[in-house]
Amino acid sequence: MIIASNFKTNYTRGSAKAFIKEIQTFVSHTKSEQNVRIFAPFTALDRFDEIQNIKVGAQNFYPIQSGSYTGEIGFEQLEEFGIDTVLIGHSERRHILKESQSFIAAKYDFAKAREVEIVYCIGEPQEIRMQGIDAIMSYLWEQFEGIDIHYDRLVIAYEPVWAIGTGLSASLEDIEEVLTRLQEKLSAPLLYGGSVKVENIESILNVKACEGVLVGTASWNEKAFCEMIRIADTVKK
Ligand code: 13P
Repeated sequence: MIIASNFKTNYTRGSAKAFIKEIQTFVSHTKSEQNVRIFAPFTALDRFDEIQNIKVGAQNFYPIQSGSYTGEIGFEQLEEFGIDTVLIGHSERRHILKESQSFIAAKYDFAKAREVEIVYCIGEPQEIRMQGIDAIMSYLWEQFEGIDIHYDRLVIAYEPVWAIGTGLSASLEDIEEVLTRLQEKLSAPLLYGGSVKVENIESILNVKACEGVLVGTASWNEKAFCEMIRIADTVKK
């Protein structure tokens, strides 16, 4: 399964390095079978020791190799560190940074052309959730506009906006219902994200269609993130 941490706007270069080192040590000592992803801030990217199953990825990039986009990070800057996995479509970028679906699709095409793993995030806000499953699914399908769902390095993260950073995870039934419906049209692995923590990761990973998690807040603690990886190793699917 994929157990991913999204650092968002947290950790410095120094503290991220220490975190990554601790996770690497834990994963190699326990011989964990999880595919661990750590989406660090740009300033913390580096060439880290290669530990099987662990990849440090980028939370964002501008869809250009290099050029004149003041303040942005192009692919050349990611390639310097061998970045092989990127987040695209996170709700914070859609809603706070106002990224449009067409811009998100441009980023997707760009990353796909570079053959990197794409963790593509989708999720509905609270007002859509209240309208029921049909409204939720049509909202989610719109987030696939311009996206090649057959890309073989695609991973999808379903992260309901109302569950992100609120401590209020979606119910297991809600997760199962959405992931099962997504599975009808998608063959990519499906992750869940939104207030995943040590206390609920086991039951979430036991949802049949769920192949991993994307964790924010609760992963910003080395011990807790290691514990989540350990719990994932006990879940047999
Ligand atoms: P939280 O785990 O803090 O809810 O964040 C989830 C998320 O946005 C991961 O990308």
